[in-house]
Amino acid sequence: MTENGSNQHQSHWRIPFLSKKQSKNGNSNGANPPIRLPNLPTLPILGFNGRNHAPRYAHIIGWGMEVPSRVLTNRDLEAIVETNDEWIRTRTGIQERRIADERETTAQLALKAARKALSVASILPTDIDLIIVATSTPEHIFPSTASQIQDWLGANKAGAFDLSAACSGFVYALDMAAAKIRAGDIRYALVIGAETMSRVLDWTDRGTCILFGDGAGAVVLAAKEEMGGVLSSTLRSDGSGWDLLGLPTLGSRDTYLMDYKYRDKSDDEQPRLMHHLHMNGRAVFRFATRVITDSIREAVKMAGLEIEQVDLIVPHQANQRIIETAAKSLKMPLEKWYSNVHKYGNTSAASIPIALCEAIEEGRIQEGQNIVFVGFGGGLTWATMVLRWETSLEQQPHKIMDVRQQAVYWYAIQRRAIVRRWRRIFNRLAGSPTPNATMRQLRNKLREQETTKQTSEEKMESWE
Ligand code: COA
Repeated sequence: MTENGSNQHQSHWRIPFLSKKQSKNGNSNGANPPIRLPNLPTLPILGFNGRNHAPRYAHIIGWGMEVPSRVLTNRDLEAIVETNDEWIRTRTGIQERRIADERETTAQLALKAARKALSVASILPTDIDLIIVATSTPEHIFPSTASQIQDWLGANKAGAFDLSAACSGFVYALDMAAAKIRAGDIRYALVIGAETMSRVLDWTDRGTCILFGDGAGAVVLAAKEEMGGVLSSTLRSDGSGWDLLGLPTLGSRDTYLMDYKYRDKSDDEQPRLMHHLHMNGRAVFRFATRVITDSIREAVKMAGLEIEQVDLIVPHQANQRIIETAAKSLKMPLEKWYSNVHKYGNTSAASIPIALCEAIEEGRIQEGQNIVFVGFGGGLTWATMVLRWETSLEQQPHKIMDVRQQAVYWYAIQRRAIVRRWRRIFNRLAGSPTPNATMRQLRNKLREQETTKQTSEEKMESWE
């Protein structure tokens, strides 16, 4: 494709190592017949709506964040586990974190962040082609939290899926979306990092419960002809470290083995709880400080830049000491590393988009700057992305667009209610159980199992 995006060179196919003349007429001595080129179709570079398009770049054009209002300070934690404010501050830099209340879920936080991002981007939910939610604490194993967001937003032409890459998830998701945009498949993508880590913490383990918090951040990526946006990215994984940081859960191999192994032991001998996060802090610290610098160097080089040309690094907010160690080994001043870990702790996949939103709000990002995102975490996984920020940061009021967005949200609620009601009626008429009935049956079955278990345990006790 030529610079202006047309595909003139494809009108005539030519084997690269032959001259134009040879390729048209055969060998120069005329002994061989002319080379017949395969009758391949010309390759129009078609994009959304089937139109020819110029080279496209994936730019962030909208951003938004949402954190729960409940604040848990280090002092509050002193009442929960044996710890103290001074230890947490000096080892991690964390002063407080946000904790979702009982009825606040990952999808709800994600939805609020997404609506804010759409408002900044000034596009309708119906414009979105793809929604990716990076999370380790989804609403369900499936359906995906992204599908729920798609429905709640009324993004009726968007594909949706969740992505699991722990604290690197947001960078992974952004890379997936950017690749779809650059390939010409889609125009707008909504990428969200959202977590309710407080739900999966072992609140008796002081080595982990002090570190994490809840929140969500979202960005809208758009295809633009203007050069810039996502310049490069590197995604990496080392699965040999799978047991250093994780969240085993029901149905996994680990659940079964652990349950089997520790069934007859007393509670305090259980090394892990199935639905709770576990971590080898020291090993993760060593891993993080090692991979961050190499990964940044590689991605910056791929973007054709020097480290000195990076204006701001927005790292995963896990620990202030990790950030300081990485800054030192990259020989970059700490001022070039954005940090808000003191306010929110480690919000896993949500930490980078939340940090991005606050960096923008504080005026730390300017047009024309080179920005780096770097994430690392369970898997083990790590990922770096380099972007040139070209989006205007002066936000204009978009009153008409705001009204249109509200109308789409309202319509989405009505549509959901009607479709679900209709599905219930249809199922009843067709004689198949309604979704609610299926859930009720499942709950009853679980309750029955629980009662049977309890009765047999009581019987065993009475025999003893
Ligand atoms: N409060 C008080 N003391 C604590 C404590 C807490 N919350 N947690 C651990 N300790 C104690 C330990 O029991 C240990 O005591 P001991 O020496 O008497 O045995 C001592 O502090 C040192 O423990 P250690 O685990 O070696 O501390 P550390 O300096 O490695 O810091 C982390 C622990 C978790 C803060 C640190 O390892 C870390 O940040 N790792 C990276 C974690 C991370 O970012 N994970 C997410 C990546 S996405």
